[in-house]
Amino acid sequence: AADFDKSFAVLTMSDKGSQGNREDTSGRYLQEKLLEQGYVLKDYRIIPDRKELIVETLIELTDVQQNALVVTTGGTGLSPSDVTPEAMERVLEKEIPGMAEAMRSASLQKTSRAMLSRGKAGVRGKSLIVNLPGSLKAVRENLEVILDVIPHALEKIQ
Ligand code: MTE
Repeated sequence: AADFDKSFAVLTMSDKGSQGNREDTSGRYLQEKLLEQGYVLKDYRIIPDRKELIVETLIELTDVQQNALVVTTGGTGLSPSDVTPEAMERVLEKEIPGMAEAMRSASLQKTSRAMLSRGKAGVRGKSLIVNLPGSLKAVRENLEVILDVIPHALEKIQ
């Protein structure tokens, strides 16, 4: 296996989850799946859908904590509280539209609702940040699409 930084953080955007009112099965799945792939978990947080807080947290997980990979779940859709993509616009230095489009495109084979996710992917410093939708089903299906390409992306940006 190639030698590159495999540190990662999982960030869940959920008003209910952050209040302890819902078990974060999506965040837990992401941690388990990425650990299984040899990535090293440095942080896991659940925060409410607030744009300022999402921006601050993403900056901390990248600039300060220097995670190679930050995977988020939730807040990519159309409800008034969904602001993950708007926070990403303030955080990303380079957008990787192809990664987000690949996930949407593959997901459309499963559900036409995939077109309602506005998730982004991109680079800040030496970190790759990827947004996945909130549901466990969506997280499973979307992660599957990008898993093989993440190592190559991480090697390139470091
Ligand atoms: N993508 C896949 N692969 N599978 C899914 O079930 N659900 C969609 C979509 N993407 C889904 C998916 C739905 S119903 C919505 S509303 C959007 O993701 C946004 O989800 P979010 O608001 O939880 O981020």
